[in-house]
Amino acid sequence: MAESRKNIILTGDRPTGRLHIGHYVGSIKRRVALQNSGEFDDIFILIADAQALTDNAGNPQKIRDNIVNVALDYLSCGLDPKKTTICIQSELPALPELAFYYMNLVTTARLERNPTVKSEIKMRGYDDGSDTNNNTQGIPVGFYTYPISQAADITAFKANCVPVGDDQLPMLEQCKEIVHKFNQTYGDVLVDPKILLNENETCRRLPGTDGKAKMSKSLGNCIYLSDTKEDLHKRVMSMYTDPDHINIQDPGKVEGNAVFTYLTAFANDEHFAKYLPEYKNLDEMKEHYQRGGLGDVKCKKFLEKVLNEELDPIRERRAYWSQHIPEVYEILRNGTEKARLVTDETLREVKSAMMINYFDDDALISDWTEQAGN
Ligand code: TRP
Repeated sequence: MAESRKNIILTGDRPTGRLHIGHYVGSIKRRVALQNSGEFDDIFILIADAQALTDNAGNPQKIRDNIVNVALDYLSCGLDPKKTTICIQSELPALPELAFYYMNLVTTARLERNPTVKSEIKMRGYDDGSDTNNNTQGIPVGFYTYPISQAADITAFKANCVPVGDDQLPMLEQCKEIVHKFNQTYGDVLVDPKILLNENETCRRLPGTDGKAKMSKSLGNCIYLSDTKEDLHKRVMSMYTDPDHINIQDPGKVEGNAVFTYLTAFANDEHFAKYLPEYKNLDEMKEHYQRGGLGDVKCKKFLEKVLNEELDPIRERRAYWSQHIPEVYEILRNGTEKARLVTDETLREVKSAMMINYFDDDALISDWTEQAGN
């Protein structure tokens, strides 16, 4: 399979809101690095609006608005349309068609076992709390089957590499199973993808500014990539630290302390040399905090500088792109056109392997002609 030797990335996001620094350290920063590594033949990023609609059917305006928000976030972070193809899911008709065929290869029991789907069922209140295995009954079929549609996304691009957050692991497992089942049933067409997780565990799941497990819009604990310096200042100054660290002299805890978690994700030794030279590195700073004598405000001021250093170039690029929205649309249009060619070609191969390519297959005519004794 010649294609499998190509290095192709496919990843994506649901356009349900602006992206925050959790998305950034968890995935986007890495995508920019991968893009600039030159190691990939093709990189595609999918704005997964169709997937977002699986549980936002009544909210099309929100999805529509966030297409541009997410595109602006990507471009602001340094994703370069010359190197990375940004495309829109709903404009790629091969994807739902592939998903439709993959549905024949997946059981409902398997879908119910998907931990991400399970937890999302709980989160969205679809779970009736009963132990009987029918808590999926209240959820939309589209939402229930989105792991299959995600397998279509990944395989349509023949991606061998999918850089995502660890919450997407179950989706990748489902995708791999579909690939194996398909190839076993119809021949070697699909590429087995590899998930690429962030090596830094802190970066994989950045907590909210309130110290809660995850940044989420509904909890109001996010720092957005589009936040101004003033927004950031307010957010950082009100961050959760160690509630028992009342006086500066008191020993403080760094575990569960959001300020230190963010510093672990963002600060490097150069930041210390530049902004806080009394410590060589984060370990020294942590040690002082734990011993007592280091105040929260000082830590927060340092964090604010570190975050601003990361966010300033993003803000600058956003200022440019927000003034060039027609260009952003052009980027999406061109990216989607390119993606359409690639995904249509995969669909063609899939249909041919499944023997549903009747009008492409001259042998079909000659076989029948022969059988008919002509
Ligand atoms: N499920 C992903 C999320 O919620 C978005 C997504 C859709 C995706 N299709 C994908 C990610 C394909 C990676 C590959 O963020």
